[in-house]
Amino acid sequence: MIKKIAILTSGGDSPGMNACIRAVVRTAKYNNINVIGFLRGYEGLIDNNFIELKTESVSGIINRGGTILKTARSQRFTTQQGLAQAVKTIHKQSIDGLVIIGGDGSFKGAEALSKYIKIPLIGCAGTIDNDLVGTDYTIGYDTAINTVVEAVDKIRDTAESHDRVFVVEVMGRDAGLIALRSAIACGADALLVPEVKQDTLALIKKMKSWRSTKSSKIIIVAEGDESGGAYKIAELIKKHHPKFDLRVSILGHIQRGGNPTCMDRVNASMVGFAAVKALIAGKKNKMVGIINKQIVFTPFAKAVKHNQTLNKNLEELIEVLSS
Ligand code: F6P
Repeated sequence: MIKKIAILTSGGDSPGMNACIRAVVRTAKYNNINVIGFLRGYEGLIDNNFIELKTESVSGIINRGGTILKTARSQRFTTQQGLAQAVKTIHKQSIDGLVIIGGDGSFKGAEALSKYIKIPLIGCAGTIDNDLVGTDYTIGYDTAINTVVEAVDKIRDTAESHDRVFVVEVMGRDAGLIALRSAIACGADALLVPEVKQDTLALIKKMKSWRSTKSSKIIIVAEGDESGGAYKIAELIKKHHPKFDLRVSILGHIQRGGNPTCMDRVNASMVGFAAVKALIAGKKNKMVGIINKQIVFTPFAKAVKHNQTLNKNLEELIEVLSS
């Protein structure tokens, strides 16, 4: 019998986390379950730092980026001492289940915690990187790529006016999924991602066919590309193609903020709702995802693995359309 649950957001924040919190709280309340929210992710769990969450606590947040529960990348939670403190809090609070909204690091933490407690843990995939196995889209990814598209459209205006080549760096330290999708949507001329090796050399070669004047070009690079990022690539381009008028733009944390898109709000609501239903149904230690519009559950151990390959069709698409 589930009478009281807790929720926390962990790792990098992502737009739509609030919509997910709202769905968890409202679904729980609908089923007469009390909810508390730990603040600053696993840090709050370790320190028993929490707030009560009522139906009205989550009013007016579905449209807001960030997370009302705040978040952190907790180093303490990776230690035995931190884990032991977290277990103490769980017993003290007498919670019957815990919902964790976060990315792969958060689920690694959940997996470790599950070895020491009996209560069920359920994860909701929230990261702008979209790099988790077990869901087509993570909460925040759609908003982030739309932010990138909006920014690159603006960069394109000035690039065209000056006939410049822009190297635009987007987030994704291990995955090029933000870069890939936004590059297609922006009509980018080249893409550099960590999943494809030697792509920098290929770019230098490809640039031989680009005219050095009277044309603008956009190169999208994921921050985790093995080349070392936009400034390094710009240096290399300058060395091999000094005639280009080159500029670098690093989009940075604007990609993590902003009002979530409709898709992120709906997906976040669906997984938050499914997370509470899963706890009621007795499921444990799994991440809720959406694959082909259906709710699916993936054990934490599998959800943490990065998806190392990109969709070949999309890679080909960008190659052909930028030719
Ligand atoms: O949350 C994912 C992410 O935004 C990555 O794309 C990026 O590499 C990283 O977080 C940045 O983290 P922080 O804000 O902690 O510097």
